[in-house]
Amino acid sequence: MVYLYLLATLLFVVGIKRLTSVKTCRQGNRISELGMLVAIVAVLAISGDGANWWIIVAGLLVGAGAGAYIARITKTTQMPEMVAALNGFGGVASALVAMAFLLIDPLLKDPDRSLIDTGLVNAISTPATILIGMVTLTGSFVAYFKLAGKKMAHPLSGAQRHMLHAALALGAIALGTWQVLTGSHTAMTVATILLALVAAALGVFLVMPIGGADMPVVVSLLNSYSGIAGAAAGFVINNPLLVVVGALVGTSGLILTQIMCKAMNRSLGNVLLGGMGEETVAKDAKDYKSIKSTTPEEVAMLLDGASSCIFVPGYGLAVAQAQHVVRELADLLQKRGCQVRYAIHPVAGRMPGHMNVLLAESDVPYDQLWEMDRINSDFKNTDVVIVVGANDVVNPAAREQTGPIAGMPILDVDQARTVVVIKRSLAPGYAGIKNPLFDLDNCLMVFLDAKEALEGMVKEVKDLK
Ligand code: TAP
Repeated sequence: MVYLYLLATLLFVVGIKRLTSVKTCRQGNRISELGMLVAIVAVLAISGDGANWWIIVAGLLVGAGAGAYIARITKTTQMPEMVAALNGFGGVASALVAMAFLLIDPLLKDPDRSLIDTGLVNAISTPATILIGMVTLTGSFVAYFKLAGKKMAHPLSGAQRHMLHAALALGAIALGTWQVLTGSHTAMTVATILLALVAAALGVFLVMPIGGADMPVVVSLLNSYSGIAGAAAGFVINNPLLVVVGALVGTSGLILTQIMCKAMNRSLGNVLLGGMGEETVAKDAKDYKSIKSTTPEEVAMLLDGASSCIFVPGYGLAVAQAQHVVRELADLLQKRGCQVRYAIHPVAGRMPGHMNVLLAESDVPYDQLWEMDRINSDFKNTDVVIVVGANDVVNPAAREQTGPIAGMPILDVDQARTVVVIKRSLAPGYAGIKNPLFDLDNCLMVFLDAKEALEGMVKEVKDLK
């Protein structure tokens, strides 16, 4: 059976590696799915005669059915919420495994035994799994509601808030110690329930004050927490595959967190402390001085003379579902001899890889997708940049010393000869701040839904001689 465990692990590692490139990510998904199938078969085979097959089959059917249904009804724009919810379910599943261990472990059936008698590994991993799992559950659902647009404010601020978080963390450690050392089963049950409740409250309060541009870091960090909880649960039930898979998820989530931190100029220490990135709503979001608005027809005339064009997709592209029509316009321009590329910012949209997923739907050639670091020095030599529903990722305010997105790397679209921004109004983006790009001399605004604007441009470009 150990060979099946090794095979599953290998498939997960290769699957994750394939997920790191746009070209191979679909294959990476399939390989990881196969790894999960091998893992389930291996675990069921090991469970052998002692297993209650009816419950296992019922669990598989209900879980797979609910998963398939939710995946089908979830829109692309709701994917970040779905990822947050999945992280939460992963966390609580691990916490429940640890709680079940307390109920069924034969050693603990002896009334004089405490958790420490089952060994040091269990004594550490059981409360750790419940703590991390429950923090992940509630933290993820706070993130879910925030991503869905619900406003949630922390009841405390400044030092008081950090003191509350520290008190809850210390309380959880004290309850975990009590749970491990007590010889009374009633006391152990009470300690377990209180530990789960305190950890749940900690998850809520840690994520509550975080908002705006920092949310992607939080979601990927919670993804890492769910993996750590899974690995800890693997120690509780002595299952090496769960330890390895949990560690893979935990480390992948941490690496993604670091990539996100870099893309948003946040330090990991700052994220781990929680409570950064207060919600910010610009008071002066509409305070613009020299906006120049234009039409799809005029943009088509501009494109007539362009030899290079870069599309910059953002969240608005997802909202408008304009991925197919942007590809249509790009193809038309390419046929006219214009060099076409897409500039992808790592946190454009609302989830890691959001723009890649959307553009893959319309089969945009991979060699036209350029990451920020690779394309940024090319903007100054580009005739026309078309920003499609992006805002924060092209906001030059990030170059200032202060402000909610200060220091965040951006796409340097303001350096192009002409920038066309397609958005419906002067409303701010996710970070809630004014964008000085819109006031620049070389910037033209098309105030339309992205799909409508691009369809108009396609029609006009087709009519060009
Ligand atoms: P945003 O800054 O959120 O701006 C999106 C813009 O799209 C809005 O200003 C909106 O303006 C416009 N828009 C919305 N619907 C539209 C439509 N139907 N047609 C045309 N335009 C439309 O997006 P971004 O530049 O992609 O930046 C992403 C932001 O989200 C960053 O602050 C990032 O930190 C944050 N975030 C990212 C992630 C990840 S991991 N990617 C996760 C959570 C949060 P109008 O309303 O005027 O049209």
